[in-house]
Amino acid sequence: MAKKFDPIEMIATSPLGRAIGNSAAGRSVATKLGVPPAAELRRGRKAPAGPIVLGTVGAGDGLVARTLTLLGIEPAEPVLDTPDARTADENGKPQPPRYAGKIGALVLDLTGLATVAELEQVRAVLRPAVRALEGSGRLVLVGRVPETMEVLEARAVQQGLDGLNRTLAKELRAGATSNLVWLDPATSAEGFASTLSFLLDGRSAYVDGQSWRVDAVSPEGLDVASTSPYADRIVVVTGAARGIGEAIARTFARDGATVVCVDVPAAGDALSKVANEIRGTALQLDITGAEAGATIAAHVSGRYGADKRIHAIIHNAGITRDRMLANLDEKLWGAVLEVNLAAQLRMNAQLLDGRDGGIADGGAIVGISSTSGIAGNKGQANYATSKAAVIGMVRAMAPELASRGITVNAVGPGFIETDMTAAIPFVQREIFKRSNSLQQGGKPVDVAETIAYLASPASAAVTGQVIRVCGQALVGQ
Ligand code: NAI
Repeated sequence: MAKKFDPIEMIATSPLGRAIGNSAAGRSVATKLGVPPAAELRRGRKAPAGPIVLGTVGAGDGLVARTLTLLGIEPAEPVLDTPDARTADENGKPQPPRYAGKIGALVLDLTGLATVAELEQVRAVLRPAVRALEGSGRLVLVGRVPETMEVLEARAVQQGLDGLNRTLAKELRAGATSNLVWLDPATSAEGFASTLSFLLDGRSAYVDGQSWRVDAVSPEGLDVASTSPYADRIVVVTGAARGIGEAIARTFARDGATVVCVDVPAAGDALSKVANEIRGTALQLDITGAEAGATIAAHVSGRYGADKRIHAIIHNAGITRDRMLANLDEKLWGAVLEVNLAAQLRMNAQLLDGRDGGIADGGAIVGISSTSGIAGNKGQANYATSKAAVIGMVRAMAPELASRGITVNAVGPGFIETDMTAAIPFVQREIFKRSNSLQQGGKPVDVAETIAYLASPASAAVTGQVIRVCGQALVGQ
């Protein structure tokens, strides 16, 4: 069978690429070649600087406008690119109408989009907006789950938004992103608010070209714009001693959670340091132990009281043992599947069986998948299997736990700058790091923010979803 041509892999893994990447001269040449520096991304709980514009196409029911109101945002009117609104430049060439200045975001209510003809209005509202979007600006397309549309044409055009969104994400510059949310016909403004807030502000910095669903569940009696949604809630983070897990623990603590930080005894010192700094507790535990879930539950009720339950568990601990399948023995295969998959299934079963210190009704489970699990990755048969299985776990558990109000979701990180990825030779690292629409690697906090959004009580309407935090990686999109 002919070998598939993969230019990135060819350059990165060629003897020349390796030699260049590993030599000091190679580094300096690559730097002098003047690869443009990547845009600084707006991060954290930071709103766009410019106005947030609301556009509507089709017969929407005003849900998006009501959601913006709930978030305290007063949207601006869109500029439309219609033939009679165009002006001529000095050479007589027609120019699309312009916004007066930069805009921070365009939120496009497409929930009523139903015909091919209406797609022209989508173009007309997008054209001036993409030209005026500020650095780290946002396009948020809000559609309807295609399967919930009754008319064939409406289903088709709603699905068309997926291709539009992915393309916009590739065309935008300077850290601006485009994402698509599919709403159920019965989604409420309260149910949609946490998602819209996440997408508009800097917490979604490295989420680009993605689409996911928001269901009809409505979180009642919550302050949807709260900056500490986890106050009085216990969150368990595995693998919290370093890397992405440490960032997850710190992000939940920032948002008010009491965090139980879990990691292997060998990482005990680093674990205590993280736990102390965020006023959480450290639990030294190898999650592959048969009673790991029971031990976590006992820790929670022992430390915080018999009546206390876990709001969320974040299954972050994960390992790689890379080999081509031809060299993969049962030890390397088993170790990865045990940590990345079997341990999570066992812990979930124990924490969901109603025992003291287990997961509370209305709680959340978040798994960590990977672009390797979505696209496959040479040398990672064990890892890719385990990470794809996390997606299977999430999709299977979400409907089962819906009656208890427990959400189950996953994130799929792409290239995240951690100790692990710092070890990749320079040229390969630069290629992988830049092979996405934002042309840079993500930070551990980008993964953490997405998890904190998913596990929030305000995100009760989001379940069974996998959100990639990869800057729209060109691999396996
Ligand atoms: P890391 O290797 O820096 O940290 C993983 C942590 O998990 C370590 O502190 C380790 O001691 C802990 N751990 C491992 N086995 C354990 C066990 N049996 N019991 C308890 N703790 C255990 O990894 P990193 O980069 O922070 O990754 C975190 C998660 O994100 C992993 O699931 C990884 O597969 C996933 N991921 C990372 C990406 C990246 O670019 N760094 C990309 C895609 C996914």
